[in-house]
Amino acid sequence: MNDENIIRVKKLVKRYNGFTAVDGVSFDIRRGEILGLLGPNGAGKSTIISILCCILKPTSGRVTINGFDIEKKKKNEIKKIIGVVPQEISLYHTLSARENLTFYAKIYGLSDKALKEKTEFLLDMVGLTDRGDDMLEGYSGGMKRRINIAVALLHDPEILILDEPSTGVDPQSRKRIYDTIRKLNQNGVTVLLTTHQMEDAEDLCDRIAIVDKGKLIALDTLQGLLDMVGQSDIIHVMTKGIQPDTAESIRQIDTVEKVSVDGGNMAIQLVHGREMLAGIIDTLTSSGTRVESIQIKEPDLETLFLHLTGTALRK
Ligand SMILES: Nc1ncnc2c1ncn2[C@@H]1O[C@H](COP(=O)(O)OP(=O)(O)OP(=O)(O)O)[C@@H](O)[C@H]1O
Ligand SMILES: [Mg+2]
Repeated sequence: MNDENIIRVKKLVKRYNGFTAVDGVSFDIRRGEILGLLGPNGAGKSTIISILCCILKPTSGRVTINGFDIEKKKKNEIKKIIGVVPQEISLYHTLSARENLTFYAKIYGLSDKALKEKTEFLLDMVGLTDRGDDMLEGYSGGMKRRINIAVALLHDPEILILDEPSTGVDPQSRKRIYDTIRKLNQNGVTVLLTTHQMEDAEDLCDRIAIVDKGKLIALDTLQGLLDMVGQSDIIHVMTKGIQPDTAESIRQIDTVEKVSVDGGNMAIQLVHGREMLAGIIDTLTSSGTRVESIQIKEPDLETLFLHLTGTALRK
């Protein structure tokens, strides 16, 4: 079974009581790549992942994992090759890290010797050997997530799926998590992760799938995605409040492509941002807007998101 695509997702749909959370999503994950699903809260990322892990049943569509169809009662085969790190931490807080790992290793049926070696190897990999005997209640969120990753790796999965691996994580843990993911990937593990933070996608992923309102709206390498935006810059303006006609006046300015307003914040996508800055500030102040800060940025994933959806990724 040496298909180049280890996961295939075709026209996937998931409805919750009539609400469409995943709306006809198709993509493939190549063997050995790190693929990121990037999208805002509620985009449908966790739902897609739960279906891939056989936790949720799709309403329609087809998913194959290493050639196994998820609908065809192949759950056990699929679970053997997938390691899952859920968005919510699922560990025993009154046990130590070593005890948690031992508990789960026993569920996987590891022998005592294999279990001990694996536990120590994984504690070292996530950088928590010294803290291994401490109860998890005293761990930071980032440390707990690192143990959750270690648990997901106990059975040597070919595919590691992580739901928001760096959300609510301190910078030190975040670096450890990135290093762990990269190291596993170098050793041949295919990685699928979800995130609503563009740094995760930019720093870690070979390809990025952008998801919004249940739909996959773009999938490419970072460079490929940035090329879609072209030469546009983005200007972020923070104010005390914006009148609707102010946004309209900004839209009328030459080279402005898109304007989105969220409370007192405005994001303006435009060509030649630097040259246009003075004119933008003029328009804002002459309409009585009190500008608190203004920032100009070169194209990045956030610009792309705005370009594709007309709304900001980061609120
Ligand atoms: N069990 C459920 N019943 C009803 N609606 C649900 C259920 N689970 C998720 N949803 C809805 O489906 C949509 C997608 O949710 P999902 O958790 O997949 O989003 P997400 O992209 O993972 O978001 P986040 O970044 O907040 O984790 C949301 O609108 C959510 O409210
Ligand atoms: Mg989620």
